[in-house]
Amino acid sequence: MKIAISFLKSKYNLKETIKKINNTNADYIHVDVMDGKFVQNTSNNYLEIKDILKEQKKPLDVHLMTKDPIKYIIDYKNLSPHIITIHYEINKNIDDLIDLIHSYNIKAGISIKPKTSIEDIEKYLDKVDNVLIMSVEPGFGGQKFMDSVLYKIDILNKLRKEKNYNYIISIDGGINYETKNKVKNADLIISGSYICMSDNYQEKIDSLK
Ligand code: DX5
Ligand code: ZN
Repeated sequence: MKIAISFLKSKYNLKETIKKINNTNADYIHVDVMDGKFVQNTSNNYLEIKDILKEQKKPLDVHLMTKDPIKYIIDYKNLSPHIITIHYEINKNIDDLIDLIHSYNIKAGISIKPKTSIEDIEKYLDKVDNVLIMSVEPGFGGQKFMDSVLYKIDILNKLRKEKNYNYIISIDGGINYETKNKVKNADLIISGSYICMSDNYQEKIDSLK
């Protein structure tokens, strides 16, 4: 199981947080991008994030919580991320957006909010590289993990086996020492405040492995 760190909520300032993440064995930095429309919260803009990430040394896992992802995909592709993930619920042409991400040779992911079912995204499963299950309502770090989404991990594992799909299964929101045991069958866990609100990032990561 791999670990990505979200730096939405941290005890330290952003640049210091990135330095601390560099000094861990985390697999990715998870970049939460929010537009104030798809979710209530707004993140730093692209140029600010670019500057914050100047010193970063990990592959990037970009999570676009934005209603209109095109301009964000076009911006964020310049940071050569490993993955860019968009949300299913934006009512846009998902196929075109996945193709756009792939056209830059970047892995494409689809994310679903807690109330969205796997059935809704089944038609995209053969072309995505990542399925990101939200275990909190997107928008804020530090929320409580929702057990009600756990069944989705099992369905995605079953479908992948049956149909030979290639996606990884990720889960994002409320992951800590207690909830990590519930998500053992995911491939990538994203953890934010549990790690970044502590003094010793590596110790927290070790406790998740
Ligand atoms: C929520 C974000 C998550 C969040 C994770 O909108 O997508 O990535 O920051 O943070 P924690 O682990 O604090 O829930
Ligand atoms: Zn996220």
